[in-house]
Amino acid sequence: MGITYECIKNVMNEVPTPCYIVSEALLEKNLKLLRSVSDQTGCKILLAQKAFSMYYYYPLIGKYLDGVTASGLYEARLGYEELCQKQVIDSGNTAKRCENHVFSPAYRKTQTDELFQICDHAVFNSFSQWTTYREAALRAGVSCGLRINPECSTQEHAIYDPCAPGSRLGVTLENFAEYAPEELKGLEGLHFHCLCEQNADALVTTMNAVEEKFGAYLYQMKWLNMGGGHHITRDDYDVETLAALLERTQKKYGLTVYLEPGEAVALNAGFLVTQVLEIVSNHGIATAIVDTSAACHMPDVLEMPYRPPLYNSGEAGEKACTYRLAGPTCLAGDLIGTYSFDRELQVGDRLVFGDMAIYSMVKNNTFNGMPLPDIIALDKNGAWQTVRQFGYEAFKGRL
Ligand SMILES: Cc1ncc(COP(=O)(O)O)c(C=O)c1O
Repeated sequence: MGITYECIKNVMNEVPTPCYIVSEALLEKNLKLLRSVSDQTGCKILLAQKAFSMYYYYPLIGKYLDGVTASGLYEARLGYEELCQKQVIDSGNTAKRCENHVFSPAYRKTQTDELFQICDHAVFNSFSQWTTYREAALRAGVSCGLRINPECSTQEHAIYDPCAPGSRLGVTLENFAEYAPEELKGLEGLHFHCLCEQNADALVTTMNAVEEKFGAYLYQMKWLNMGGGHHITRDDYDVETLAALLERTQKKYGLTVYLEPGEAVALNAGFLVTQVLEIVSNHGIATAIVDTSAACHMPDVLEMPYRPPLYNSGEAGEKACTYRLAGPTCLAGDLIGTYSFDRELQVGDRLVFGDMAIYSMVKNNTFNGMPLPDIIALDKNGAWQTVRQFGYEAFKGRL
């Protein structure tokens, strides 16, 4: 899986539980790889904040990436306040520009004034959205784009497939043809997002469909945003194929390509440390109840679904002692997965889940009044500090 737990070994017994720990060294390793792709090809890479918004690390991210992208006003504000605005202030305006992009399937009229002040790029999901907000966006100097839907599914997770029939995400060729070319005036970019945790071959397939359907319009665009879902920092990712595709596309159409990965930025850079609270056994199934919850602290485990990697464990039956790990909530299905260990688990034992930076802290919740995990930063020297702590107020304040 490409997860290294080395950095966590010395701290896993010291930190409060539950907590997310994000390693600066592992994050920077990913960032360096992403930067090498943009250096080699001239493309621009943005952090999709929906996957990872731990803004403590935005200064580090800003050293390597070209900016951030948002799903709406709040993420856009976060990117602006914690990265773009700070970079401008820090550098006295001389550094490379930090870009702040936004895409939403439907904007709210009450928010667009502010959005267009703090974002330099905005992507619209339909011609109707575009014509509604065109004037205000252009007046504010925003570079505008339209999300297209090439209707090319390359993956099996229906819930993450924006190309499924009837999808609300992006303009299909049929709808596009109705408005082009007149309504394209003022648009500088096209955007597609079709992938989820995929390799470069899926991007090649998708790009073929994009060119076949929308290629004629690409010549008049300044940029093409290829969305996220590119698992560039995964060990087996084919960076060469990606780079070749980026170079070819930019050259052929004379535009700048943007990638906006979320997962790839913080892939395998985070951990969730928990401890065993209780062990119960029924019908021969031993369950360790831990102080973290799939439903509350790692919702993708249930949504995707997937079995998160766990340090020092095996598949069910692989090692001597097998346990289900489950959350302390009322939800019968709050099951994290079944794992085996070299020895019997004891109350108080600490367990470390891997790959817990992405889509975990941005999606967590306080169902059952569950405390939210602390957020901890682990620096390159192995020192850790708590960046955020959440108490009762975090629960009460949402209700
Ligand atoms: C429009 C858009 N861009 C970027 C992303 C980031 O994708 P990932 O985290 O899979 O790289 C998403 C994820 O849903 C998205 O919807």
